[in-house]
Amino acid sequence: MRSRKVQFLVISLLIAWSFITYYILMRTNASQLDTEHQQKQLTLQQLLPQTLKEQTKSQRLARTLIEFLHMKYNVVGTTPSISIVAAELSNELPEQQQPAQIPSQTYLANGEPVIPILVFACNRVSVVKCLDNLVQYRPSVEQFPIIVSQDCGDEATKHAILSYGKQVSLIEQPDQSDIVVLPKEKKFKGYYKISRHYGWALNTTFQKGFEFVVIVEDDLNVAPDFFEYFLGTHKLLQQDHSLWCVSAWNDNGKASVVDTGKPELLYRTDFFPGLGWMLTSRLWSELSVKWPKSFWDDWIRHPEQRKDRVCIRPEISRTRTFGKIGVSNGLFFDKYLKHIKLSEDFVPFSKLNLSYLLKENYDNTFLKQIYVLPLVTFDELRRNLIAIEGPVRIQYNTRDQYKRISHLLGLMNDFKSGVPRTAYHGIVSFYYNKRRVHLAPNANWKGYDLSWS
Ligand SMILES: *[C@@H]1O[C@H](CO)[C@@H](O)[C@H](O)[C@H]1NC(C)=O
Ligand SMILES: *[C@@H]1O[C@H](CO)[C@@H](O)[C@H](O)[C@H]1NC(C)=O
Repeated sequence: MRSRKVQFLVISLLIAWSFITYYILMRTNASQLDTEHQQKQLTLQQLLPQTLKEQTKSQRLARTLIEFLHMKYNVVGTTPSISIVAAELSNELPEQQQPAQIPSQTYLANGEPVIPILVFACNRVSVVKCLDNLVQYRPSVEQFPIIVSQDCGDEATKHAILSYGKQVSLIEQPDQSDIVVLPKEKKFKGYYKISRHYGWALNTTFQKGFEFVVIVEDDLNVAPDFFEYFLGTHKLLQQDHSLWCVSAWNDNGKASVVDTGKPELLYRTDFFPGLGWMLTSRLWSELSVKWPKSFWDDWIRHPEQRKDRVCIRPEISRTRTFGKIGVSNGLFFDKYLKHIKLSEDFVPFSKLNLSYLLKENYDNTFLKQIYVLPLVTFDELRRNLIAIEGPVRIQYNTRDQYKRISHLLGLMNDFKSGVPRTAYHGIVSFYYNKRRVHLAPNANWKGYDLSWS
């Protein structure tokens, strides 16, 4: 009995002793840590500016790396979230420097126009992927001021834009009032806001006196010769009033249906492509007074606006969309848009003779050539049964024929105001099994049929 009591006492003492020793040890450690922490804070404060600089640099590096991986592996969907993290990190940076003023100069000393790049942004911080490209490839800050127009008032996005400092200008759409729409139109409210934003930003930019403006949306990557493309083509818009836009986009720009050996090739098209496009102040003064409340892109394609005018488009796209978060066209993106090839070559457009694109030259050569080309059937083309070399023509006569053939060839098969994508006088030109192919209506074609939509 007695020895058990002693045993118990000894054990209790041992336990108590270890608790006390442990407590004392912890206290000294903690106070040591405290002073260490204070010292660290001091050095951190000294190091902070340097660290932040490095952080910005590494963010830029990370973005470039992401872009590279994106191109190499086509990883879609992961990049936006990484960009969001990057933007959140940049929120912790001290107040950024002021953005640039919109230049007052509208022509350079050598007489060339100053062509602002107007970037439309709202609440996607992934706009940085677009801006990185633009800043990287811009050949001249004076000739191509980048103006970011922001709607929606999203702070994180604004912060991301301001992180470019003097490299871009920022304008903010002031009217954030709610737009009243009919109940059945509620789901289209976003389109009303986009239209309001476009109207305001284009008015604001053109009011400064520029003759040309290039419009870019916040989900576009641009090609290395994006600026050179517009530099080379702006004179065509001045000269030829049957042209109303130059677009950097090929709706049928999938790698499988373009001639990758012909990055310099350009076309005229009756279809308004958008997605990175240039317009003139002359056109804007005509459109601005009747600008629609919503769906501006369908509106602009309507014959009442288009008036038979056409755009220039490239064989290989100079823009590529990296997809929109939270927009319901994810399926369309996966199935189609992500396969559009972004040109990687640098074509010196401003040094090329592009007069073949003027209406008279083009209609005299292009249109005439098409209708003397050998006529083959879609089946012969698809099964590679054509003995001759060189370009061929396939004929379509009805809407359904067009839809079926273009679908089987991997082309876009929809119409807007009766016009098939990329068509010129009904002719859709593309590349298939190493040859140029023109899907064309018969020679006595009478114009687009609005009911083919
Ligand atoms: C642009 O400004 C003009 C002239 O002030 C005005 O008539 C027009 O309605 C404006 N357009 C848009 C879309 O805001
Ligand atoms: C440019 O090309 C056109 C044909 O499209 C030709 O008539 C003209 O002479 C060329 N101009 C020059 C300067 O080579």
